[in-house]
Amino acid sequence: MAEVYLDRFSRSVVRDRWLGHLIAHLPEGASVLDLGCGAGVPVVRHLVGLGHRVTGVDGSARQISLARAHVPGATFLHTDMTALDWPNASFDGIAAFYSMTHVPAAEQGPLIGRIGAWLRPGGIFLASFGTGAAHDWTGEWLGTDMFFSHNDEVTTSTLIRAAGLRQMRVETMKQDDEDARFLWIMARKPDRSDGRAYLTAPMP
Ligand SMILES: C[S@@+](CC[C@H](N)C(=O)[O-])C[C@H]1O[C@@H](n2cnc3c(N)ncnc32)[C@H](O)[C@@H]1O
Repeated sequence: MAEVYLDRFSRSVVRDRWLGHLIAHLPEGASVLDLGCGAGVPVVRHLVGLGHRVTGVDGSARQISLARAHVPGATFLHTDMTALDWPNASFDGIAAFYSMTHVPAAEQGPLIGRIGAWLRPGGIFLASFGTGAAHDWTGEWLGTDMFFSHNDEVTTSTLIRAAGLRQMRVETMKQDDEDARFLWIMARKPDRSDGRAYLTAPMP
């Protein structure tokens, strides 16, 4: 369904807006991880065009093959994002656009904890999450059976803080390209400029 998804969802004002928030906080030539990168457009392609070094990860072989064709200048890995293991402090930015909602709710906390460790001090995590608790359900979507899973908003925010991240922007927004709402969170890993928070943040 990778081509069907791309045809239907390659343009979104909402996604562009949040991608803009992420970009505004990345240093020059940032190292960025895109979890559930899909076909690499528009997110990876846009970031690479700005001179960032991007690694895209997706569990779909077809999405990764499309992404490699769309963005030869990025690195792509075909793997399950919950099975990833990076050294601590590997990335300036980690994004997950519309992909966390396909990860089992019980696995989102441990994954967010690892994301907190993979970020450098001052690094940014930006992701869309589900609204309202709806654990592990499968429904028809774009002509196939699709797995979805959400924690409620308070639980998601609690998981972000438990990972040692500070929420900078939290907003629930209706999508412009389908009848759906997502909880958007942009969070930052404290650094020396945060003083005491940096010293008391959980160590990875
Ligand atoms: C709705 S698409 C979003 C694609 C892209 N991020 C975008 O903004 O259009 C969700 C993507 O997440 C991927 N995905 C879902 N669960 C995953 C997992 N556990 N590990 C890696 N990729 C996953 C899917 O294969 C799919 O490409």
